[in-house]
Amino acid sequence: MLELKNIQKTFNAGTINEKKAINGLNLTLENGDFVTVIGGNGAGKSTILNLIAGVFPVDQGTIHLNGFNLTGLPEHKRAKYLGRVFQDPMMGTAATMGIEENLALAYRRGKTRGLGSGITAAEREIYREKLATLGLGLEERMTSKVGLLSGGQRQALTLLMATLQKPDLLLLDEHTAALDPKTADKVLQLTEEIVARDGLTTLMVTHNMKHAIQYGNRLIMMDAGRVVVDIRGEEKKNLSVRDLLEKFNIENDRMLLSE
Ligand SMILES: Nc1ncnc2c1ncn2[C@@H]1O[C@H](COP(=O)(O)OP(=O)(O)O)[C@@H](O)[C@H]1O
Ligand SMILES: [Mg+2]
Repeated sequence: MLELKNIQKTFNAGTINEKKAINGLNLTLENGDFVTVIGGNGAGKSTILNLIAGVFPVDQGTIHLNGFNLTGLPEHKRAKYLGRVFQDPMMGTAATMGIEENLALAYRRGKTRGLGSGITAAEREIYREKLATLGLGLEERMTSKVGLLSGGQRQALTLLMATLQKPDLLLLDEHTAALDPKTADKVLQLTEEIVARDGLTTLMVTHNMKHAIQYGNRLIMMDAGRVVVDIRGEEKKNLSVRDLLEKFNIENDRMLLSE
């Protein structure tokens, strides 16, 4: 279970660029919750994911994961509990390294054995099987440099890496926004499969309202650094984009553009 209590975050405090990004945010996720997160530009969606991951510290409030207090922990010490995929396909993988080397790095996350000791045949077999589940033929290209892959292939690989060691929480920040619609759908499908298969607790930011409705068991909307809408269960299943727009009166929001 993830528990965010009264989180506050201001950037550039005391300067002309001061910005209150998160303003008393409370959010509790049950284990296995797959929560989609929507909200206008600057609502604080990425910031909250970054605060959970420890990219920067909270000003106030607490972050607990499965009863464990993460609040004061540096980013690298939280990494072993978390899987992350960002919008930019270039960020999650090492371009100059091979597919299997990237997977080996992910596989060794939080373990002492580095890449120096080489990839064993047994590991290679695990990677091959995992890659095959993506249905992209990457299992036949295990030594190819990741830089040669398409954006969609890289995001699929990043997703695989983020979930290779089952994370306690999966954080997805508009991870399909840079992909063409068909590829985005494919990566979202894969996301849903992996989340369901491993029962992963997941926060998925999207600017696409259809996707926010279609995926997950719960939908939250953020505005001005808080959760302003929280819909789950049957209500979420019956939700339409029109409902969302009417109910919350956000017709002019940029989210409309990507409907
Ligand atoms: N590292 C940072 N330094 C300064 N301001 C930031 C930083 N990250 C985010 N902000 C500001 O905080 C607000 C929330 O940003 P963000 O969480 O990225 O919004 P979004 O909901 O679009 O992901 C915005 O006004 C943004 O400009
Ligand atoms: Mg963002």
